[in-house]
Amino acid sequence: MDSGIDIIRDDLREIAARAQTDIEFFDGKRVLVTGGAGFLMSYLVDLLAARAAATRHPPEVVVVDTYTAASSARLAHLTSHPQVSVREIDASTIEIDEPFDVVVHGASIASPVLYRRMPLRTLEVNALGTLALLRAFEKRRLDAFVVLSTSEVYGDPEPGDVPTPETYAGRVSFTGPRACYDESKRFAETLATTYFRSYGTPVRIVRPFNVYGPGLRPDDGRVVPDLAEAARRGDDLVLHSDGTPKRSFCYVTDFIVSFLRVVVRGQDGEAYNVGDDREEISMLELAERIRRVAKRPGRVIVQPSADSEYLVDNPQRRCPELSKLRELGGDMPRVSLEEGLARYVGWLAAEAGDAR
Ligand SMILES: NC(=O)c1ccc[n+]([C@@H]2O[C@H](COP(=O)([O-])OP(=O)(O)OC[C@H]3O[C@@H](n4cnc5c(N)ncnc54)[C@H](O)[C@@H]3O)[C@@H](O)[C@H]2O)c1
Repeated sequence: MDSGIDIIRDDLREIAARAQTDIEFFDGKRVLVTGGAGFLMSYLVDLLAARAAATRHPPEVVVVDTYTAASSARLAHLTSHPQVSVREIDASTIEIDEPFDVVVHGASIASPVLYRRMPLRTLEVNALGTLALLRAFEKRRLDAFVVLSTSEVYGDPEPGDVPTPETYAGRVSFTGPRACYDESKRFAETLATTYFRSYGTPVRIVRPFNVYGPGLRPDDGRVVPDLAEAARRGDDLVLHSDGTPKRSFCYVTDFIVSFLRVVVRGQDGEAYNVGDDREEISMLELAERIRRVAKRPGRVIVQPSADSEYLVDNPQRRCPELSKLRELGGDMPRVSLEEGLARYVGWLAAEAGDAR
């Protein structure tokens, strides 16, 4: 059976083949990646590390992470990589006195379980972290300053606003239990666009829509790992809603291909939805699809969460409008939900050491 890292390597090969020219953009550049040990940004770090071995003008990557939501094991294979350094630094209070060409602010507390447990740390990394990074490059030249925002900036759109375009202003609670995440991401976007207007900072904002795949930890608390891990173990798949809320899920390779396009070809000061618009499915349907790809699936059951505020401000629907991303040209999402879920469940099984 493939190990977990082998499954990630297959994904990385797929991304490299699909996004070759965008990856070349990083040649010879110094890149700062906050949250670089996390699910999404570790793919970027791995891609740049691999690129470094393939060119005479290698990118150099500095990763900053507190391991609040990641394991140091994720990037352990890069410990002695000549072009990658990994530093345990809090992005909320970061001070930078060295030059970079590209900054990617991916650090955040994105797991709903964690941000409910650490609301102030969540506010800090999204708001103060973004401010600290923008300030550090106020008067310095940069090729790109990338902010990982979220589709949660849209809150709970009315049905007429789904699929949701970037121009939608959002229907978001700013005091509810999820506001520490949603509202601080909105503030991060306000900071970034204001720095673009004030200092010309080459800001590109990425709004990911429900990305999943290898590296998304089984205890993360988002719906795909919750259900997929239960299915892998042969436990019941527990829905904490009535199963009707809908989402559009994007496999990680499709996400990174689109993400790179925004970093390289996106316009300064602009925000881009990044996700998969091909299907919007209910949580009940998601659970059924996961059952189909798992080897020992349990039953799907509905059971209210022990957390009485679990569903407060939970959006009913989430689907991206992707015309703006399409206008940048290039490859759009192509991994089907079945294929992506199978790869993810395979990764969970490999990490857990399940027999084939
Ligand atoms: N995966 C998705 O579907 C999704 C959706 C919307 C937005 N996003 C955003 O994309 C980014 C990456 O998300 P992810 O899914 O990889 O989550 P993740 O939790 O795996 O990664 C976030 C990383 O940031 C680190 N971190 C947290 N606080 C930090 C701090 N103060 N200083 C330095 N590092 C810190 C964590 O340890 C973790 O490694 C986040 O900004 C997230 O909000 C992701």
